[in-house]
Amino acid sequence: MILAHTSEQLKEALSAGRNKGLKIGFVPTMGALHQGHVSLIDKARKTTDVVVVSVFVNPTQFNNPEDLQNYPRTVDADVMICKTSGCDVLFMPDESEIYPDGFQHSIVELSLGNLGKVMEAAYRPGHFEGVVSVVYRLFSIVQPDVAFFGEKDYQQLLIVTELAKKYFPKTTIQPVDTVRLPDGLALSSRNLRLDEQSRNQASQIYKGFLKVREFLCDNHSWSQESCFKIFENYLHARAPLLKIEYFLIADQRDLSIASPTTPKEELRAFAAVYANNIRLIDNLKLF
Ligand code: PAJ
Repeated sequence: MILAHTSEQLKEALSAGRNKGLKIGFVPTMGALHQGHVSLIDKARKTTDVVVVSVFVNPTQFNNPEDLQNYPRTVDADVMICKTSGCDVLFMPDESEIYPDGFQHSIVELSLGNLGKVMEAAYRPGHFEGVVSVVYRLFSIVQPDVAFFGEKDYQQLLIVTELAKKYFPKTTIQPVDTVRLPDGLALSSRNLRLDEQSRNQASQIYKGFLKVREFLCDNHSWSQESCFKIFENYLHARAPLLKIEYFLIADQRDLSIASPTTPKEELRAFAAVYANNIRLIDNLKLF
């Protein structure tokens, strides 16, 4: 595995493969790698010829400075995981490499409509501007044929798809299923910061989604309010440490609020929940 710290080193590492017409797969991450990230790398290894992973904790996407400060950094373990999971080139740039002109977002202009207004966009102002800036910069450097993004961050996946359509039409965005622990908790770098009690209760988020799914199967005239109540009551009884920031059922094509007239196969449940001070997000396709 080649370790690249600068764009020049990265381009150099990829040039032979690119000249031969090999397919370049890219997995952008912020490190603290876990099996969710590994599933993206696996998919890249199986479907592309050269696998690039980036590890960069992107300051511009943290709307909360404390969250940035506390974000887990496990560089040595990340290098090991990349080596053993089949990454060919690991890109670990520093801030000046990605943001040579300081933290400016202005080069990228995307009209996201509803996607840029709801859920994470509403509760984390500036977050997606930061994500879009860094992904734009990373894609410009790596120029991948295929880039892999987890459904765990479903809104990010849709927004990056819009970014690629406009600015990187040769890059395909490949979604990857969410990897969960046996009790249902979606893997996340932030799980490292949960104490044991919060960690155990956090698995109820997924179980709450399943409860809502059961309800939808039996009730064709459901409402957002009735589903919210089911989710809230379920969590209240089993996971009193969790505080719901939002829960809703959206049309997964554009994240508009869903209703009983939305085709069932497009329904997806979304939630952001605090466990103590740690903010967790998850979503589940319902049918
Ligand atoms: P990060 O949170 O490190 O996630 C990197 C990628 O791993 C994202 O595509 C995310 O959706 C995926 N991922 C995380 N947990 C997962 C899980 N349990 N199952 C499957 N995939 C999972 O997302 C980011 O970093 C950043 O916003 C980034 C895109 C790198 C831009 O800075």
